[in-house]
Amino acid sequence: MEEVYKPGEDSYLLQRWVEKLVTGNVLDMGTGSGIQAVTAAQKKEVNHVLAVDINPAALVAAEKGAYSNKVQDKIEFLHSDLFETVDGVFDWILFNTPYLPSEGDADEASWAGGETGGEVIRRFLGEAPCFLGSGGSVLMIYSSLSGLTDADFNGYRFELLEEIGLFFEKIYCVRLSPF
Ligand SMILES: C[S@@+](CC[C@H](N)C(=O)[O-])C[C@H]1O[C@@H](n2cnc3c(N)ncnc32)[C@H](O)[C@@H]1O
Repeated sequence: MEEVYKPGEDSYLLQRWVEKLVTGNVLDMGTGSGIQAVTAAQKKEVNHVLAVDINPAALVAAEKGAYSNKVQDKIEFLHSDLFETVDGVFDWILFNTPYLPSEGDADEASWAGGETGGEVIRRFLGEAPCFLGSGGSVLMIYSSLSGLTDADFNGYRFELLEEIGLFFEKIYCVRLSPF
């Protein structure tokens, strides 16, 4: 079984903005340990969180976290490759993406973003607008190593919320709202 991503600087960066911005009905894509789902569920402004991951071990860990933080009634867990089995529309979609370049299937889903680092993100950005209600936004983390360009954000209003420097890369937290 795959390991579950242990929260790092990227997770805490996203968490700060979840605390500040997120309300209503929330989708936590790639929930991992459940850090974002639990943070969102702890807010009184949030009604419901759907926590999704491709890694079944992550869903087990996230559910445990929900119980230990006593927010299990507000979070639902779903196994899915991105939006494949997701149903519904959301006010916010959170995603601390797997954003690093990787080679082949042996790489870990926690961080492997495909050959250029941006493949999973591009697929996500293409599908996300269909799952956002009117006025909804994506809150997303990616890296200067993800190989993304302005063209990858076509169709979204792009707002850079915060940037941090980590070793040889920069990590960005952005808000994306479909036009
Ligand atoms: C960088 S970790 C982030 C974990 C957690 N949200 C956090 O902030 O610490 C990326 C997560 O995305 C999940 N993931 C990767 N590819 C996915 C896909 N195609 N569909 C759903 N989840 C995916 C991984 O299993 C992993 O849990």
